[in-house]
Order: sequence, then C-alpha cells, then structure tokens
Amino acid sequence: MFITFEGIEGSGKSTQIRLLMPVLQAKGYDCITTREPGATKIGEKIRAILLDSSHSSIFSITELLLYEADRAQHVREIIKPALQANKVVVSDRFSDATTVYQGYARGFDLKLIEQMHHMVVGSLKPDLTIILDLPVDLGLKRAWERINTQSTHVREDRFEKEDLAFHERIRQGYLALARLEPERFRVIDASKDPETVHKKIKEIVDAVLGA
Ligand code: TMP
Repeated sequence: MFITFEGIEGSGKSTQIRLLMPVLQAKGYDCITTREPGATKIGEKIRAILLDSSHSSIFSITELLLYEADRAQHVREIIKPALQANKVVVSDRFSDATTVYQGYARGFDLKLIEQMHHMVVGSLKPDLTIILDLPVDLGLKRAWERINTQSTHVREDRFEKEDLAFHERIRQGYLALARLEPERFRVIDASKDPETVHKKIKEIVDAVLGA
C-alpha cells in the first residue's frame, strides 16, 4: 500500500504523517515514512540544491530535472523495495508535486511531465493521496513560523519566497488533480486544528486499508 501526502507550504503534512504512523503500527502494519525530495543519501544533496534560497538563479528546467532525479533514486532505493516487502509506504510528496509545482505553477507542459513520470516511475502510482488543503495566506504564515525557528544550516525557503499567485496556482493545481482522479485523491480541510485533521485522515486510511 502506497500512501502520499500533498499540499501547499505549511499545510501540516509532516505533523499529520507523524501522527498517523503510530496508528498504523498499532494496527500491526509494517510501515515506513519517506519524503521527496531528500529521502536517499543522493537525494539529500539534491534537496539541498533545490531548496537553498541563495540558488535563485536555478532555471526551471534544472529544477524539474532535479526533482525527477531525486525521485528516480527514491523509487528504486526505497519505495519499490518496501512495497515488494509488503510494507505500507507513506511519502511526504511524490509525482503529483511535480505536476503541480513545475506544471501548474511554473508552466511546464503537463503532457511532458506525464511522459517524464512514465520514464522515472513507470506505472507506480499511489493507492491513496491525501491533499491537505487550506488558504495560501494561512499556509504561508505557518510555513514562515516553522522556517524562522529552524536551526538548519541552509535556509530551505526558496519556494516560500514565491508570490501569493504562485502558491494559489499550486493550491488550485492540487484541487484540479483531485477532480480528475477522485478515486485516488481525498481533500481534507487542513485549516482545522491538527487533532481534527488527524481524525479525518484516520477514517480515510482505515477505509482504504480495510477495502
Ligand atoms: P517540502 O517542503 O514538503 O519538504 O517540499 C520541498 C519543496 O519542494 C516544496 O516547496 C515543494 C517543492 N517540490 C516541487 O516543487 N516539486 C516536486 O516534485 C517536489 C517533490 C517538491
């Protein structure tokens, strides 16, 4: 079972994944959490290049290829072996993030991105994708609070520095994907408090795992 979490900046994905894991483990599932970009040793280096705010000169095509490179490594090194071992894999972002950030928001052709995904991940698709949806101003407020208290060496704020219109395109991109594939996506109101959001996610994951 392959579950992914998606959403705009500050949507609370990592908090919700942290809350979900013990629930899955208590039910006896062997599960792992992972993320994009940066789940592998090579991916960590790619993540540092991608998110460093001093890299404002990065070209959109470079950015697109680096996300796909990170994913190529991630799928082969972590996701596929775990799924083959019958684990539940919970990933903080996956291919949909490229469709939305590089496609809907940066303007790359969606067909081209689909072809790249075909090359990089083959037929692998999440069984369930949870979109944590909230207004962009609220998400960005939360994201900046987190960044300003982070003690990491490199400031990971290259995307947060984009304007509101960019983040709105991302939000609308995710909602558009959810409308295109309603059987895979579940959209959750993430403006609510973390416990309420967690309860909703638990219900959804229970239903999908039980099915
Ligand atoms: P994170 O903040 O969820 O760790 O994600 C890192 C940033 O990278 C976030 O701003 C979204 C962006 N991103 C893309 O632009 N394209 C992608 O394919 C992925 C996986 C993330």
